[in-house]
Amino acid sequence: MYHVERKPFPKDFLWGSASAAYQIEGAWDKDGKGPSIWDNFVRIEGKTFKGTNGDVAVDHYHRFKEDVALMAEQGLKTYRFSVAWTRILPNGRGEVNEKGLMFYENLIDELIAHKIEPMVTLYHWDLPQALQNAYGGFESREIIEDFTNYATILFKRFAGKVKYWVTLNEQNIFIIHGYKLQNHPPNVNNAKRMFQANHIANLVNASVITKFRELNIPGLIGPSFAYGPNYSIDSNPKNVLAAENAEDFGAHFWMDVYRFGEYPIMVWQWLKDNNLTPEVLDGDMDLLKHAIPDFMGLNYYRTTVNADNPLDGVGLGKINTTGVKGSTVESGEPGLYKHVSNPYTDKTNWDWDIDPTGLRIALRRIASRYRLPILITENGLGEYDKLNDDCTIDDSYRIEYIRQHLVAINDAISDGVNVLGYCTWSFTDLLSWLNGYQKRYGFVYIDRDELDEKELKRYKKASFYWYQQIIKENGKQI
Ligand code: BG6
Repeated sequence: MYHVERKPFPKDFLWGSASAAYQIEGAWDKDGKGPSIWDNFVRIEGKTFKGTNGDVAVDHYHRFKEDVALMAEQGLKTYRFSVAWTRILPNGRGEVNEKGLMFYENLIDELIAHKIEPMVTLYHWDLPQALQNAYGGFESREIIEDFTNYATILFKRFAGKVKYWVTLNEQNIFIIHGYKLQNHPPNVNNAKRMFQANHIANLVNASVITKFRELNIPGLIGPSFAYGPNYSIDSNPKNVLAAENAEDFGAHFWMDVYRFGEYPIMVWQWLKDNNLTPEVLDGDMDLLKHAIPDFMGLNYYRTTVNADNPLDGVGLGKINTTGVKGSTVESGEPGLYKHVSNPYTDKTNWDWDIDPTGLRIALRRIASRYRLPILITENGLGEYDKLNDDCTIDDSYRIEYIRQHLVAINDAISDGVNVLGYCTWSFTDLLSWLNGYQKRYGFVYIDRDELDEKELKRYKKASFYWYQQIIKENGKQI
């Protein structure tokens, strides 16, 4: 759809940026914090790029005031960050660690003092190791109560101060990578266990939303989902069907449950045929149906092109975690689809498609199917950046990336989609889970690399000033 004139961004549009605890905080064992599954996973040889970990990360734990001052200078309206469960409850349950709570209280107060809306993610993958050991984490229903108690502590403590809450970050990613691809903890490859853990994660999400409503916490709550539209390679009906499969298995399988409390028909049938259905107990579907989120959180990075894949076709491929362009190995799900390269899009050095129109398509598909407002909780470009001798960083490619994605959002708003806000990934550079520190996303450059923490100095990139101007003008001049 072409518009003669685009509609303006809403007056109260949340211009933001985002991060996650493990990727920025460091201080992994300070002030009573317990170990998470990521603290241990990164120590398994060969799992992360050059063996990098988040022990120090970018030391946000000790430098949060400096970081918030930079956010204020840029003019952010919101900042999305996650709470490390292991700071609040070192063993996942039991005694509350007041020092951990204080860290987040101070951060939240600092943000509010600078007129920045805090947006809190309850879970960005760093499950307490103690709960993984005690009952297998998401594989046991015990986590529903433990997670809900943890969330309740935060709801009660920060009610009134925090108005935007994200439940689970990218359930699809942490479940698939953790229980199939083995590049996230708990490092398992077992389909039956994967679908079971996923069902329980759905119940966790619903239980937390239900609790939020019971407690009458003012504000909005919803999950953040990693979604990129699936395209067909061409109009061959077999390939179109493969793309439909990829949508059902890669997106509806989660978002339908969040919104309707129902699994998609075809996926459920496939699970039955393959003896992979999770155990569903009385009351489960009822809980799911009654926990409708206030918004759908969208983490958008790229789209995927699909083609037919026979039963003896392509399976697990290989992800590019080295930044060597073209090193991704084709992957797929035999009998359903395979992912192939898109001849029309540019790729990053990590082989991610750059597709701003895909964001518009994503927003429209979600809005039409789910009829919820959408909060873009992540979008950004991971690239190599160079710190020049005069301490400047010219990341004009990032400016262009974000600019084009903002145009797509503006188009979607003009199409009638209700978009509440936009958080770039990320505010400062940070640890990219599997890709080390060389894959940078921030507006603020952090001077460290895989081998040397250096002084962790902060430098503003060209994109910092550019986004500052965009916010000032409420997106008028994109
Ligand atoms: C999202 C995550 O999957 O994408 C972030 O929520 C992550 O935590 C981001 O960092 C970018 O992915 P990557 O692999 O490039 O770090």
